[in-house]
Amino acid sequence: MQSLSQRPALDIEKIRADFPILAEYVNGQPVCYLDNAASAQKPKPVIDAVRWCYEQCYANVHRGTYDFSARTTKAYEQARETVQGFLNANSAREIIFTANATTAINLVAHSYGRGFLQAGDRVLISAMEHHSNIVPWQLLCAEKDLILEVIPVADDGTLDLSAFDRLIAHKVKLVAITHISNVLGTLNPLDYLIKRAHEHGAKLLVDGSQAVMHTPVDVQSLDCDFYVFTGHKIYGPSGIGVLYGKEDILKAMPPFLGGGEMIKSVSFEKSTWADLPAKFEAGTPPIIQAIGLGAAIEYIENIGYDMIQAHEMSLLDKALHGLGAMAGIRIIGTAQSRGPVISFTMESGHHHDVSSLLDQDGIAVRAGHHCAEPLMQRYGISGTTRVSFGLYNSLDEIDKFLHSLTKVQKLLRLG
Ligand code: ALA
Repeated sequence: MQSLSQRPALDIEKIRADFPILAEYVNGQPVCYLDNAASAQKPKPVIDAVRWCYEQCYANVHRGTYDFSARTTKAYEQARETVQGFLNANSAREIIFTANATTAINLVAHSYGRGFLQAGDRVLISAMEHHSNIVPWQLLCAEKDLILEVIPVADDGTLDLSAFDRLIAHKVKLVAITHISNVLGTLNPLDYLIKRAHEHGAKLLVDGSQAVMHTPVDVQSLDCDFYVFTGHKIYGPSGIGVLYGKEDILKAMPPFLGGGEMIKSVSFEKSTWADLPAKFEAGTPPIIQAIGLGAAIEYIENIGYDMIQAHEMSLLDKALHGLGAMAGIRIIGTAQSRGPVISFTMESGHHHDVSSLLDQDGIAVRAGHHCAEPLMQRYGISGTTRVSFGLYNSLDEIDKFLHSLTKVQKLLRLG
């Protein structure tokens, strides 16, 4: 194994040049975009792929007998194969394009949940879930008389695994868990959770929305039953998400949305369903968005996760050290095993004031509950300021952020 210092470093200037938006100025300062967990910026190959399709061959997919439709269909299906390779799924039939990760989770809740869960069964989530991985299960539990159980989170932001071991042993049929927390940054021990879930006869869904841009994912080696992610956080367009599901499970599941494309035949007496993946892609799909997502995945695969991780961990280390050295800053979530996301509170100021003042220096961060209100309640806070890094952020930007935050803190102390 190469040590970190022997590895070739990411050529950050070259990477930054791939993202035209990073040349923009905000409030007279070069933009310093540190809100990648909310949405990431797009590199030229993604913008070019979208432009290529709109300018050279756009048509609806799977429907036309003419050249444009054939070319667009080919690009759309190639994007599916790119995602298949990216997740190491066994077959492209296991890759369903959705509008986003939320739709993918709702698809599983409606289809798998309605089809296979019975009154009294338990669904297990964790206290660090995004609302997208809470509310669909609450709706399902209310409708089907299921019980929703929650794995608690320890003070450092790790899952309470002994509580998980207790909970999983009691009639849990489905576990839905985030891979990396969008607030705490915690990287969850999926191997352990999946193994234990399967030992107890439960299926497991992973919300990978905060993970796929930072860490490689191999659904076959993980052995998860479902894995979902969204395109816009992995440098692709918005309006596209992915549901991976094991083929035998997807095959057995009833349709979620009805309409064109998902049928084999329709009559007023009876309709039958298309094979996978079309069964779950009713209506005109997110064509351009899928093509853009394919380009985004190729872009990051060309750079390589080794390089991305080494770079992002250096950003994370520097930011954690800087924040840790500032009096009056409380970091929420200090797990060792984590992604490049840091949430913090400032004694002397509200998170919205902190983020607005940082914006005056051209620094974009997110403030609020981050769609994780139960987690805020767990820590007894109303919200945090959150910085989250992507592959194009530089160490200079971390310096700039820490410098600006020191200024903001002084201002708020005075105010
Ligand atoms: N779920 C996104 C975030 O954490 C929007 O910011």
